[in-house]
Amino acid sequence: MSIQTISTKPFQDQKPGTSGLRKRVTVFQAAHYLENFVQSIFDAIAAPAGATLVVGGDGRYYNREAIQVILKMAAANGFGKVLVGQDGILSTPAASCVIRKYQTYGGIILSASHNPGGPEGDFGIKYNTANGGPAPEKVTEGIFARSKSISAYKIVDAADVALDVLGTTELAGMQVQVIDAVADYAELMESLFDFAAIRQLLASGFRIRFDAMHAVTGPYARAILVDKLGAEADAVLNATPLPDFGGGHPDPNLTYAHDLVEIMYGADAPDFGAASDGDGDRNMILGQRFFVTPSDSLALMAANARLVPAYAKGIAGVARSMPTSAAVDRVAEELDIPCYETPTGWKFFGNLMDAGKVTLCGEESFGTGSDHVREKDGLWAVLFWLNILAIKRQPVETLVKRHWAQFGRNVYSRHDYEELPSDVANALITHVRDSFTTLVGQRFGNYEVKTCDDFSYTDPVDGSVSHKQGVRILFVDGSRIVFRLSGTGTEGATLRIYLEAYETDRTKHDLDAQDALAEMITIADQITGLKQRTGREQPTVIT
Ligand code: G1P
Ligand code: ZN
Repeated sequence: MSIQTISTKPFQDQKPGTSGLRKRVTVFQAAHYLENFVQSIFDAIAAPAGATLVVGGDGRYYNREAIQVILKMAAANGFGKVLVGQDGILSTPAASCVIRKYQTYGGIILSASHNPGGPEGDFGIKYNTANGGPAPEKVTEGIFARSKSISAYKIVDAADVALDVLGTTELAGMQVQVIDAVADYAELMESLFDFAAIRQLLASGFRIRFDAMHAVTGPYARAILVDKLGAEADAVLNATPLPDFGGGHPDPNLTYAHDLVEIMYGADAPDFGAASDGDGDRNMILGQRFFVTPSDSLALMAANARLVPAYAKGIAGVARSMPTSAAVDRVAEELDIPCYETPTGWKFFGNLMDAGKVTLCGEESFGTGSDHVREKDGLWAVLFWLNILAIKRQPVETLVKRHWAQFGRNVYSRHDYEELPSDVANALITHVRDSFTTLVGQRFGNYEVKTCDDFSYTDPVDGSVSHKQGVRILFVDGSRIVFRLSGTGTEGATLRIYLEAYETDRTKHDLDAQDALAEMITIADQITGLKQRTGREQPTVIT
């Protein structure tokens, strides 16, 4: 088997976004496209000879082909060993778990998360460092810089490696160890939660449904919820991972997780419902006919963390992304622990967790997690909720409403406008920025603008600064509207509008969020000229 050095030319568009490089499958299939990016990773990280890498993905279309290329390139680039999930599968949190447990140099995760898959869908690739978390910006910038100057990549000329059988084989002097994709992760979950209490809850007639959305969490949910915790076999919906996710959009929200939503809002609804996304890092939590916003979910977890064995001694601090509601801030205040506000994207939580400053963190985009790994973790969140419910024995809705009664309710919603022309979306953001000085002090109905800014973040651990992380309009009463352009889309631009108001009046806690936020929604349109600029009457997705 010989190492080949293949000449190539740079692609100009290999800049990693919020979470790695995401493009259409067809883009990745273009000659040298994947190889260039993988070589750029290897060049940028400069791992010592003989280092160990983890490789796995969410099983979407092109996963298998890409893994074979990565293995052959890892061998040619001097890695000593690669741990790869059986059949090339590892959920994103499981990959993080494996990197940490076996103390590898890093890992490559293949996923486009919640974006649709299949030949016409999306593919993605990202690099995680030795702490198990997404590479920080200085690393992703190094990869991007390399991708713009690359002139050759190395790959061994060898047959494909069989990934269906557990065990170790050799590829041009490099060991390839095929590992059980679920076992290490399941063991970690068992060490964190009170499985006995959850088992009792499920045995008591408490019914759950978990929608794996034909994505990676099916096998994980079966192994943990059904085999270990005794949930009924039909508790896991859409449990077989498919390369195109059954033609669905594997994003756990009220729009896309429709199978689950129908059940949870139907007659004889189960007590608890949850869903996860393409690569298993997101989660949605539902009660009987009740939706828990991800921001509230984070706050509730923080408030009840002591009920979970792993967090029984208390949590060091919490963190949330800036657009996430301030519900968790109120819990942090009550617990007298620090609360950090970071830019959007999980990579900003890593330093805080490594430094022991935070234990729990989350984002409004259906992501919650803790320092047990360095990714957000869908099934972990589901188990966290089940653990709380096993101790509290209250319906989900009661639990949330009691939380609001104690802390007040941060009424919250996100409106997404997908596939806008990039110039229209950019002009809209620029317009808001240019209006800052005239907006301050301006009244809109019941609301008065207090300040406006462009969110910047200075990492308290390494001092790195990230600018332009979202445009904020902050009102006198604590309400706010935030505008941001997505960093994960692959077609045109996606505008995200985050709306938040704070309500202490318990008699108003039953209001639907869209009704409670109606005036703010109008103000967002007035400030941006959104309808007129985009020609859109409605958001594409409301969460
Ligand atoms: C979106 C979410 C963000 C999350 C990321 C990866 O990024 O908003 O919170 O970390 O997906 O799952 P965006 O498309 O907004 O850049
Ligand atoms: Zn994801």
